[in-house]
Amino acid sequence: MDRYVVAITGASGSIYGIRLLQELPGERILVVSKTAKGIIPVETGYSLEQVYAMADRVFEDDDMSAAIASGSYGFDCMFVAPCSESSVAKFACGVADTLVSRAASVCIKEGRKLVLVVRETPKSMIMLENELKLARSGAVIMDANPGFYHGPETVGDLVDFIVGRCLDRIGAEHSLYRRWE
Ligand SMILES: Cc1cc2nc3c(=O)[nH]c(=O)nc-3n(C[C@H](O)[C@H](O)[C@H](O)COP(=O)(O)O)c2cc1C
Repeated sequence: MDRYVVAITGASGSIYGIRLLQELPGERILVVSKTAKGIIPVETGYSLEQVYAMADRVFEDDDMSAAIASGSYGFDCMFVAPCSESSVAKFACGVADTLVSRAASVCIKEGRKLVLVVRETPKSMIMLENELKLARSGAVIMDANPGFYHGPETVGDLVDFIVGRCLDRIGAEHSLYRRWE
């Protein structure tokens, strides 16, 4: 099918979602949460319009009638990058009052891939328990926590390490980081 959902939520690190949009193969569907809309231009220098233009389809986070809100609409994987702990908490409790949380809930109930690039530190026990619950439900907790063994020289190299690890989850070929040999 090669159809992917990218949700950018209001954690620091919106560049992760942007780089994913740039590197994902196939059709890219984008949802940006209300808080993320404010963070993107401050952290990355990209305007919201520029980020929207990187996707094939864009839905608003309050559009509960969007295609991805229904389990009958197929997609291969949903990436939430970055993923706030607030969104983690919603996903873990089955709260589906935004398009991002509804689409994540659909992923879990339909047994689809859900990759969460969570960014928060330190983490409370509540956050850790929420993440454990999601991991037990099949989600991948892909913390925004890059390795250093591939010889990164720039912040972009660190970002691309995580983006590459996300692409690994869907079997996409890439050269975003040097693999350990
Ligand atoms: C500049 C900024 C940075 C933030 N960074 C984080 C973060 O790194 N991790 C996190 O869990 N929440 C962070 N927050 C708080 C979330 O944005 C807040 O909990 C929000 O309700 C998340 O909603 P959303 O997941 O629907 O975007 C940040 C907020 C702002 C304004």
